[in-house]
Amino acid sequence: MTLNKSLLKQKLSPRDIRFYESVDSTNDIALDWLREGALSGAVVIADEQRRGRGRMGRIWYTPPGVALAVSVVLKPPPNAVGQITMLGAVAVAQMCESLGIAGVGIKWPNDVQINGRKVCGILPEAAWDGDRLTGVVLGIGVNVRVDFQDDVLRQMATNIETEYGQSINRTDLLVKLLSQIDCWSASLGTADLLEAWRKRLVTLGLVVVVREVQGDSVEGLAETVDEQGALCVRLADGTLKRFLAGDVTLR
Ligand code: BTN
Repeated sequence: MTLNKSLLKQKLSPRDIRFYESVDSTNDIALDWLREGALSGAVVIADEQRRGRGRMGRIWYTPPGVALAVSVVLKPPPNAVGQITMLGAVAVAQMCESLGIAGVGIKWPNDVQINGRKVCGILPEAAWDGDRLTGVVLGIGVNVRVDFQDDVLRQMATNIETEYGQSINRTDLLVKLLSQIDCWSASLGTADLLEAWRKRLVTLGLVVVVREVQGDSVEGLAETVDEQGALCVRLADGTLKRFLAGDVTLR
């Protein structure tokens, strides 16, 4: 069943929302809205995305009626932009935890996993006016009851309903998610948010391969994260290499 627009407006009031049954990407719409003057907290929601975008140029699959595809407009202070991705991951992790789901963790930098399977992806995108930051769109995709089409996805991904063990109302889930985002938005730029993210990371202490956004893959021990959220990896030659972005796989 599709999300109900008037129920969404009622439950999310007084927030500015734009709801679509089907769009290419909620992030694209939110970025346009941000450039036109959307206020912080404005939200774009779609029941289906035809060209949902993932990190590192990947496609994000959002068939109708089975997921959450949400983009939230935020106007963080410039020194807190790097924490937007943490904010998204912590908000989704807490949404899952509040349902009593066990085994929730964050794979660096921002994939929320349940028992090692990805349940949510996050794509923050900034809009600039020259060298002035207009704001950031925090794009969040949550699998609720997606029928994954290929074996690789079936192995690597999971759904909220699978882990929760019963059906769940997507509007209620969205209300929980946005309230977590509001709550953590007030902590942007603080050590509290960094710590809430760091303590959920499942990547630390593991031997990983990090693929840089444009570049090579590097293998090493994921030792720690620094204050900017960069992953610090100990290489075989003993040096510590810092990654601000990239993709991690276990060796
Ligand atoms: C990832 O690759 O893990 C990030 C996926 C982000 C998907 C969300 S769904 C809502 C928003 N709109 C998009 O096109 N992408 C993000």
